[in-house]
Amino acid sequence: MDLKGTLTQIILAAMPIPEKEDSPPLILETPKNADHGDIAVPCFLLAKQLKRSPHDIAKEVSTKIQDPLVTDIQVIGPYLNLFLNRKEVSGGILDQIITKKGNYGSNTDGSNAYVPIDLSGPNIAKPFSMGHLRSTMIGNAIANLSAKNGYRPVRINHLGDWGTQFGKLIAAYLKWGEKEKVKQHPIIELLRLYVKFHDKAQHHTELNDEGRRYFKLLEDGDPQTRELWEWFREESIQEFSRIYDLLGVSFDYLQGEAFYNDKMDEVVDILTKNQLLQESEGALVVRLDEHDIPPCIIQKSDGATIYATRDFATALYRKRNFDFSRSLYVVGSEQSLHFEQLKLVLEKAGFDWAKDMIHVPFGMMLQNGKKMSTRKGRVILLEEVLMESVELAKQIIKEKNPSLENKDEVARQVGIGAVIFQDLKHFRTNDVEFSFEQMLNFDGETGPYLQYTHARCHSLLRKAGDFTPSIGQTIDEIEAWPVITHLSQFGEVVKQAWNDYDPSKISRYSLDLARTFNHYYAKVRILDSDQKEVRLHLVYAVATVLKECLRLLGIQAPTAM
Ligand code: ARG
Repeated sequence: MDLKGTLTQIILAAMPIPEKEDSPPLILETPKNADHGDIAVPCFLLAKQLKRSPHDIAKEVSTKIQDPLVTDIQVIGPYLNLFLNRKEVSGGILDQIITKKGNYGSNTDGSNAYVPIDLSGPNIAKPFSMGHLRSTMIGNAIANLSAKNGYRPVRINHLGDWGTQFGKLIAAYLKWGEKEKVKQHPIIELLRLYVKFHDKAQHHTELNDEGRRYFKLLEDGDPQTRELWEWFREESIQEFSRIYDLLGVSFDYLQGEAFYNDKMDEVVDILTKNQLLQESEGALVVRLDEHDIPPCIIQKSDGATIYATRDFATALYRKRNFDFSRSLYVVGSEQSLHFEQLKLVLEKAGFDWAKDMIHVPFGMMLQNGKKMSTRKGRVILLEEVLMESVELAKQIIKEKNPSLENKDEVARQVGIGAVIFQDLKHFRTNDVEFSFEQMLNFDGETGPYLQYTHARCHSLLRKAGDFTPSIGQTIDEIEAWPVITHLSQFGEVVKQAWNDYDPSKISRYSLDLARTFNHYYAKVRILDSDQKEVRLHLVYAVATVLKECLRLLGIQAPTAM
């Protein structure tokens, strides 16, 4: 159990709560003034429950607590202030970190249950967008958090590889496309063809019919059309893979929309049997008037299915294959209505597990306050954006540490880590302002700052020469106390971050840990001190937890930079 849990038990046992009554939630605070103890417990809620004064209750509790962890108790107004046995507490925490290493802070709450996580989902033949980048990074961090909390994440890339647009693309390619050009720059070239088709179709509407015809051919399995589609898909996946490699993200399943093509009839069957389908201008829809939201289109007037239909099939498939107790979709906020409709339609069809499908939305990536688009005007390719960050990181590293050996490798870790951390720093529904300058500031609240602090810890351990961590170390000094208490909170933060699908709780926590440690390091000498051994253990503990935080966020932790 972590420190907070242990203390909670000690305090609750001493509280005059009548049997049969539930105790009010216990709040443990850190007093602003260190003279007021290590932990402060406000007694208002219990006072209300027992109809006594909080001061009285605090007084009574203070006489009852007897535990080796608590060395002194003072009552200040309505607060119960505890002074802890630092040796005991620090010893417990250091031992845990040293024995569990990366597993420190993990729990088994999830009992190994599967959690499908829908993340990334870029659309083939189009540039990988900033939104897909966010989905990839946020989704990956949430998947890591689920595993840390004892679940088994299943990372699924729901590729956008089906739909009428591919009929248009095929038509455009057959008209104007050149094989070699597509081979050279698949995404740029396919995008160009698609845009050209769109432009022309504004005046030549018959082109749209042609596009629909090709999509129909595709749906019916026509070999030539199918071959082209497969080729475009393959080329796109190869380009996307380079981005995934850079980001260090991989998937358990690449099951795009096309995967569900042969599972669509069932959807229409189910909805028909439940008498949910209604005709509307030739299309089949499920009305959701009672929820005051627009109807969900299931089949278009030309008989083609759409995004929502495929997501219906996807939900069924995932329920059958993973028997989930929750299933996550990490997709931008602009699709909130889509997921709301999807859940309601599933519920109407009698699938009560639809309530376990959770849309985890996120905001936009902005540049200079405007939506950062990879489409308008000149095509900004995401790979180029990531490589630019790596290049900038390399310049900074060259300046700061010219003799560093594996500069390229470290620059890659730092440049990519900077992009990821910038994304995961604030709560996901906030928009993110993309700025190289900010995210690569080694002294700011950035990924590189965390990586740098981590590397600094390792540099100390290296300089110590023969450091090997061992259990049984205790640290008594007041300067180390903020670091120790911070380390003790990790397990709690891991739970909260998962419960709220909020990686930024880990970001916040690691920034605070790094800052607290750097304060400590500014105050005490580590290598040339008679406390060297125990202080090095603290350094080791901080490095271990920081590395684990970075791993959860999907960021690498170089040991020198
Ligand atoms: N391809 C979609 C898009 O770009 C995202 C897919 C999200 N996942 C899902 N199951 N709908 O908008």
